[in-house]
Amino acid sequence: MKDKNFITLGIESSCDETSAAVLREGRDVLSNVIASQIKVHQVFGGVVPEIASRHHLDNINTVIDSALSEAGITLKDVDLIGVTYGPGLVGALLIGLATAKSMAFALKKPLVGVHHIQGHICANYIEHKDLKPPFLALVVSGGHTNIIDVTDYNHYEVLGRTRDDAAGEAFDKVARVLGLGYPGGPLIDEAAKKGNAHAVEFKRVFLEKDSLDFSFSGIKTGVLNYLNTQRLKGEEVSVNDTAASFQLAVMEVIVAKAVMAAERMKKDKIVLAGGVAANSLLRKMLKEACDRKGFELYYPSPILCTDNAAMIGCAAYYKYQAGMEDDYYLDAYPNLAI
Ligand code: KG4
Ligand code: ZN
Repeated sequence: MKDKNFITLGIESSCDETSAAVLREGRDVLSNVIASQIKVHQVFGGVVPEIASRHHLDNINTVIDSALSEAGITLKDVDLIGVTYGPGLVGALLIGLATAKSMAFALKKPLVGVHHIQGHICANYIEHKDLKPPFLALVVSGGHTNIIDVTDYNHYEVLGRTRDDAAGEAFDKVARVLGLGYPGGPLIDEAAKKGNAHAVEFKRVFLEKDSLDFSFSGIKTGVLNYLNTQRLKGEEVSVNDTAASFQLAVMEVIVAKAVMAAERMKKDKIVLAGGVAANSLLRKMLKEACDRKGFELYYPSPILCTDNAAMIGCAAYYKYQAGMEDDYYLDAYPNLAI
């Protein structure tokens, strides 16, 4: 297998998923094992960094072993090790990074550090075998909301970013105040399907005219104020209506800005990525907007939207193809810029 196919081992541990994946020729996923810690953090209503690190440490070797055996290979078949080195929780990142570095050293294999957000974008190369840059990427996750001009496999220019909360973070916080639980994104998505999205008119925050930046902290406060006002008035709150109205307000802004960016950059391909890319309304609204404008829309299947090591392996492959390689001084950067 090794002679004919280039094998990448990807490792991801930036937040609460410990993941390892094996890829053939960068895009062909032979295994993608994800150990989720959702249940561990659920009782706290969010990710507890120290607990996340400890669980990564407990899980990482088993996850890597499972990824190798599921792919039907052994360590000697691996040609490249790719690992997330930022952004993320520093303690969590360090577990994946230390593991990847020691494996690369012991096996004498090349090591490539991957930016987590670039990994999210690369999930689309796995899903859509013909997809090639240039395109406009919309990355919406628990930690980020970015509009990125992707001019080549390793060239990314950020056109817009959130100035406060990320979209996923806003979903998680609003879900908490609505009593829906954690992680909030999928729960709001579900609740919204049963609600009236025009029941409450939450303010859409577009910032300055022509700005491609986002701000979601205002709408989060808007939901809180609405709930408090209703309670003070003794009026009942419909969780489903509030969830649907909040979701529509967020997605209207995201879709409008993505389309504005594509038009401005003269891009006819929009690539959606990140955990919130699994949102059913976002997919529907963006598809409709792209159809109206004659743009092509790409997004990964839900398992590749969430944090996973296959996307990291794919990004590492393209960096390595371009001659990029890291040494054992590679460190974890919690606020790594794109
Ligand atoms: O990309 P990701 O797995 O982790 C980060 O890199 O942040 O994204 C996790 C985020 C969480 O905030 C979660 O609530 C959100 O993605 N999410 C969703 C949906 N599924 C996950 N948000 C809205 N709708 C969904 N269906
Ligand atoms: Zn992520």
